[in-house]
Amino acid sequence: MENQVKVLLEDAKKKIEKADNIRETEDIRIEFLGKKGSITAILKGMKDLSPEEKKNLGMVVNKAREEIETQLKDKFSYLKKVELEKKLEAEKIDVTEPAKRNVVGSKHPITRVIDEITEVFMSMGFSIAEGPEVETVVNNFDSLNAGPHHPARDPSDTFYITDDILLRTQTSPVQIRTLKAEKPPIKIISPGRCFRCDTPDATHSPMFHQVEGLLIDEGITMADLKGTLDTFAKRMFGENVKTKFRPHHFPFTEPSAEMDMSCFKCGGSGCNVCKHSGWIEILGCGMVHPNVLRVGEINTEEYTGFAFGMGVERIAMLKYGVEDIRYFYENDMRFINQFK
Ligand code: DAH
Repeated sequence: MENQVKVLLEDAKKKIEKADNIRETEDIRIEFLGKKGSITAILKGMKDLSPEEKKNLGMVVNKAREEIETQLKDKFSYLKKVELEKKLEAEKIDVTEPAKRNVVGSKHPITRVIDEITEVFMSMGFSIAEGPEVETVVNNFDSLNAGPHHPARDPSDTFYITDDILLRTQTSPVQIRTLKAEKPPIKIISPGRCFRCDTPDATHSPMFHQVEGLLIDEGITMADLKGTLDTFAKRMFGENVKTKFRPHHFPFTEPSAEMDMSCFKCGGSGCNVCKHSGWIEILGCGMVHPNVLRVGEINTEEYTGFAFGMGVERIAMLKYGVEDIRYFYENDMRFINQFK
């Protein structure tokens, strides 16, 4: 028996020495000292021995068990230390490593100009209305008082989806939607995309942006229109700009006008931006035609209003000196990054 204990002890020592992880060491503990372990089995098998033999062998076995326990304890603490070191090594942070640069994007110049325009009008109490890019022919033309022979209806100018559905050619159909959905007083602007069958060149794109405006209330006159749009031009381009209104024609307004402003670059003396005229055409506007008000079942005796529409690309090109509209859509970072 004593010999057997010796052999077990040697075996345990060798195994403990060889073990190189905590799990393996735990298995060794179970193999020798566990409930069904070999040392435990010897202790259990001692019950038939004489008291003298029990005492002697008991001492030997206990000593062996203590020795194995000590060795296991040492091994466990050694392996735990090694594992901690490995973990620390793996999680090491090199504080001298150069930081990764955060690439922060910027607003597209068109978005930026839309934001500026909407901010000016919102500060004057306008709210934002939205309409779909895919519109009905009725909303885009008929309800806006554009007769059946209006040239813009021609399929060579407009993207038709069916005979009755098209890609809106202007943001003006949002006027119709708003007039139908709301009761006066109405005071909205509506930025958005528009589409026309234009071959792209330096000043044309089949997709472009407009901002529409509509104000309906009691006693609104051309003076309100002029005051509002003059204020807009000054806030957008500087206090010194002057505005003038030229008669024009739009089917949905009567009278209609185009607003020009004095050139923000040369102040009116003539330069390349204003093509040496001193003036820059900036938007279309007018008093809302009674036929349009009637679509929204608005009492034309009680209410009047004005509307306006401007091209966002045109304003962005003027403001930032962009010479070709196509730059806005090419996603060339050399262009985009200039607007950071
Ligand atoms: N829809 C016009 C266009 O695309 C712009 C416009 C002119 C809008 C006059 C208006 C307006 O609301 O009153 O050319």
